[in-house]
Formats: sequence, C-alpha cells, structure tokens
Amino acid sequence: MYKTETADIRHQYPRSENREHSVPLYLTSSFVFDDAEQGRALFADEQPGNIYSRFSNPNTTEFIGKMCALEKMDDGFAFATGMAAVFAGFAGLLKAGDHVLASRALFGSTYQILVKILSKWGITTSFVDASRPEKWESHINKNTKMFFIETPSNPGLDIIDLSIAQKLKEKHNLILFIDNTFATPILQTPVDYGADLIAHSATKYIDGQGRVLGGVIVGNQDLIDEVRFFARQTGPAMSPFNAWLLSKSLETLSLRMERHCSNALALARELDGNAHLIYVRYPGLESHPQFILAQRQMKSAGGIITLLIKGGYDRAQRFIDALQIFSKTANLGDTRSVATHPASTTHSKLSIEEQEQVSIYPGLVRISVGLENKDDIIADIIQALEKSKKGKK
Ligand SMILES: Cc1ncc(COP(=O)(O)O)c(C=O)c1O
Repeated sequence: MYKTETADIRHQYPRSENREHSVPLYLTSSFVFDDAEQGRALFADEQPGNIYSRFSNPNTTEFIGKMCALEKMDDGFAFATGMAAVFAGFAGLLKAGDHVLASRALFGSTYQILVKILSKWGITTSFVDASRPEKWESHINKNTKMFFIETPSNPGLDIIDLSIAQKLKEKHNLILFIDNTFATPILQTPVDYGADLIAHSATKYIDGQGRVLGGVIVGNQDLIDEVRFFARQTGPAMSPFNAWLLSKSLETLSLRMERHCSNALALARELDGNAHLIYVRYPGLESHPQFILAQRQMKSAGGIITLLIKGGYDRAQRFIDALQIFSKTANLGDTRSVATHPASTTHSKLSIEEQEQVSIYPGLVRISVGLENKDDIIADIIQALEKSKKGKK
C-alpha cells in the first residue's frame, strides 16, 4: 500500500493502445457499444463501463480515484461546482421531514440552501456554534438524519471538534457530512473521525490556479450510490476538460499546501499584535480560540487568514485598494495571494446580524495566502495597512 501522495500521483486511468504517459482528454459525450447486448448489459449494471458522460467519463473517473486515495474513501462523484456537490449530498440523501444539524459558520450558499431551499421541501436545519459543543446534542431530535460541518469555516476560521461530532454521529446514527474545502485532504482527513461523506469545492486549492470550477463528493459506497443516482438523473456532472485539469492539479496539491501553510504562518506571526489591527485570526496562532483543537485535528493550519482592521468598512476597502501584489477577487486557494472584503462581496446578501453570527464584521478582510515569496506578501500587507490609515472612500 503506497503512502497517500504516491497513491495520488501514480493513480491513472488505464493506458490506451497509444501508450500515452499522461492521460488523454476524453472529449466525448457518449461511448459506443460493441453490440446491442453490451448496451443492454451496461445499462443493466451487469457490466462496468462508460455509457454517457453525464454518468461517467475516463477523466472524471481518474479525478475521483485520486480524491478517494487522498480522502481514504470508497467512491465518489465529480460535479460542475462545489455547490452542486454540496447540494447533491443533501438532495440525494434527505427527504421531507428530515432534520439537519449544521455548524453555524458555513459558506454563504450552503447556508442559503439549508435555510431557503431545503426548507421548501420540508427539511429543517438547526445551527450550532463551534465554540459550544456541549450544546450540540440538545438540538438533535428523532428526525435528525445528518450532521453537516465546515471546518475550518469560510471566512470566520472556526474549527469544529470532529471527535465530538463523531461521538454524536455514532450515538444518534447520523450521516456525518464534512465540507473539507479549506483544509484539503492534505491537512485533514475527516474519515479518521468517522465521516461518511466529504465534499470539496475543487475550484479552490484542488485546482489551485484559479482556472476552473469543480466539485466532488467522496464517501461510503452505499451513500455514494444514492448520491450518484441523484446526480445521474439531474445532470450536475463535471466536464471531462475540468476533470483532466483538476486531476493533474492534484499531483502537486501536497507541495502547494506545504507552501500555502508556511507562508500563511509567517504572515500571521508578523501581523500578530500589529497596531492597525483589532485582531489577526489564524488557526496556527496561539491567539486563535481553538488553537489546541486545530493542532490536534489538522496537520497544519491552512492558507487563509482573516484580519479585523481598525476603522471598519471604509478603511477595509482603502486597505484592499492599497494592496499592490494581492489580487482583488472573491476566489481563494490560488497560487496568487488574494484579498477579499466579505461584508461588501461574498457575504453581502446576509443581514448584519447574520454576518455577525459567522464572525463577519465591516472591517474584516479575508486573506488567501499564495505561493509568492513570503517577504513580498508581508511587505505588501504592511504598506497597505499604513496607506489605508487616512483617506476618503
Ligand atoms: C467552504 C466552501 N464550500 C463550498 C464552496 C462552493 O464552491 P463553488 O464555488 O466551487 O461552487 C465554497 C466556495 O467558496 C467554499 O468556500
């Protein structure tokens, strides 16, 4: 049995008669049958094989195989976006009357799916605070079917204790469904805590270069079979081109994560105690309220930092405008460092109260630390903090 990096890098779809080293791009919508009997057998699931790219394709199969090797899960399905993956996990497994327990600090669209979409179909959700695990169990009722967790959360960087989640899952027979986008399987493997299903936005670190959208779910075979049934019928499949690209990206994921984490730690340490900041939040800093939990649960603290800048909304916007190297965009997990102002962009659809519940304040800036030289990243932030002190916006 190879170590995970080796299993990820060496996993490849079987070579064709052309003996290619890298997997070709299979741009085909359907696959031909040798004869009518083979068509029947494939549709009857009596024989494995590709039928139609909405169901499977060699490129998506390879990508899923690598994700399963990294997450140590049985099987998976690849989606056009991370949100399609998260939604399929809910829609494929829940029915009217079911109840979901979810961590409160969730990516905005996931929160909207739970509150505004699933509720239309009679599926209810209770949200729990990361910092109060002793209260979680009181929200479980006889209809609770799933515990959905994002850790670390976007953008508040709350860490949810997966060992407590595992105990609740086992006691109440819940499906433990984890969004592992921020940590990636390099820093955290939720299966070690009994996770049944794991979703990723592949748009983030898995691509890592800001090129394509993608999502994936991996999990236990019986659950994946249900998710696959939902996805085969409803059609949110990943394109072969994106799968081909993402599969190649996975081969450098562990190296990239090492550098994202070391650059982020250097920046967080440098900014800790900076006079322009109310706080710098990074799970790898001792000042993070769940530092010890992050040390236990994650191999390293990740590539995202949040800064709460003194002076609120206007100053946060001046700070973003003063940055010279950083990209001003809403994505994250890129080789290039990115600064985002959640209150005016990604989370602007939430009310002020909803924003505060997930640790978003007017002066908060999310930093996705890239792979540039750490000294240049630090110098850019320091000069932008200075420059943003005064000015009109
Ligand atoms: C934690 C998390 N989950 C899911 C998503 C959604 O992914 P996508 O944009 O690929 O649909 C995001 C996007 O930012 C995210 O940060």
